[in-house]
Amino acid sequence: MEKKYRIVTYGCQMNVHESEKIAGLLHGMGYRETKEDAEADIIVFNTCCIRENAENHAFGNIGALKKLKRRKPGLIVAVGGCMTQEKGKAELLREKFPFIDIIFGALNLERLPELIERRLKERRKVVEVREKEGEIVEGEEPFRTSYPNAWVNIMYGCNNFCSYCVVPYVRGRERSRKPEHILAEVKKLVAEGYKEITLLGQNVDSYGSDGTTGMRFAELLDAVASVEGKFRLRFMTSHPKDFGKEVIDVMEKHRKICRLVHLPVQSGSDRILKAMNRRYTSGKYLEEVEMLKSRFPEAEVTTDIIVGFPGETEEDYLATESLVKAADFASAFTFVYSPRAGTKAAEMEDKVPPEVQKDRIVRLVELVNSLTRRKSEAYVGRTVEILCEDYDEKKGLYLGRDEFGRMGYFASETNRIGDFVKLKIERANGISLFGVPAEKAGGASPVTD
Ligand code: 5AD
Ligand code: SF4
Repeated sequence: MEKKYRIVTYGCQMNVHESEKIAGLLHGMGYRETKEDAEADIIVFNTCCIRENAENHAFGNIGALKKLKRRKPGLIVAVGGCMTQEKGKAELLREKFPFIDIIFGALNLERLPELIERRLKERRKVVEVREKEGEIVEGEEPFRTSYPNAWVNIMYGCNNFCSYCVVPYVRGRERSRKPEHILAEVKKLVAEGYKEITLLGQNVDSYGSDGTTGMRFAELLDAVASVEGKFRLRFMTSHPKDFGKEVIDVMEKHRKICRLVHLPVQSGSDRILKAMNRRYTSGKYLEEVEMLKSRFPEAEVTTDIIVGFPGETEEDYLATESLVKAADFASAFTFVYSPRAGTKAAEMEDKVPPEVQKDRIVRLVELVNSLTRRKSEAYVGRTVEILCEDYDEKKGLYLGRDEFGRMGYFASETNRIGDFVKLKIERANGISLFGVPAEKAGGASPVTD
């Protein structure tokens, strides 16, 4: 009988793509995917530790497996991802959940097949978490699950040490992949029919700054955008201290590069930005947004914001609100500050009380939603090109995103997944748009080419 795997993923896009790599390794061992715990021969938790609630979520789900494991002792439970890289966490996991079979790190996920073999042969628990980043391992084929979108890592790790962030501790120092490996991967994906490529790194602007690639990010972006074929190109995440003219110049050269930049601002208060060790001011941030929008009038910016950082006053919070309005974000991920052991901010005094944090996040979400709604409404009557990526069973509609990440829904009798479809938008509902393919609506002129 076919062996089955199930992967449970927490956290960001980086982790989602790492789960595709884990899936690729498991496919190589003959496992096939199931979405049901009860059917699985191996369940892998790909954890995230960036905020406490992501950790608690994983702890809860791992704990819930205890019964199944008792009923099915042959089931292998493996826990990997950033959380296992945190100091003391592997030991804590072993203590709390003695039924876990394998603990592996985010820095050595390619070792998983060998650890599984060892577990099956020796019947002993296996714990192998690499403490320090090593050489980049090339040649592993991810099992991609999000056609027509594909993610491509360009670098790993982070050197920035923002004072609230655990990433540099658990993901190690920056390492950049060689341009020839990245280009070969992109060419292959385009040849296979992928239509949207997103270059991934914790801080893509510092690609190559370790001097090992002979190329900086702007040059890499230029080279990737020069790959022939119709596809969209995105990149994530940019850092405001590094983002600027060089990248914008390359964007101008290639219409393939989406006019949407994810530029996390974190706070609108210069005092808080300094305490966060972000190394830019709100003024410099807004200048960058302005630079981008003046070059491409249609350009949009999305962001990440943290409220309730230690020492944040009402005045600091209001500075964030002002910046949000001035930058006119297309959307924003908003977070309540979560102290992470080992980071500078965790040691800071003057913590913001939870009820104040809660009040601020509620106000901020309302503000961000109002911007997003206003932008959605402005779409009505326009024609936009979306890349169809899925079918929503409940709605009975196909869906896809435009170049600015806005979701558009439409009806079709034929399968349109993987097609660029021009949609005449008839209705907006919150962040969702509903439209009719322009070939049906009488072919209004497209906004994007
Ligand atoms: N608390 C809250 N949010 C955080 N982020 C990173 N670390 C923390 C933390 N300790 C947010 C930042 C980052 C995004 C990926 O997660 O906004 O950009
Ligand atoms: Fe964390 Fe800052 Fe690095 Fe982003 S840039 S991963 S927030 S340390």
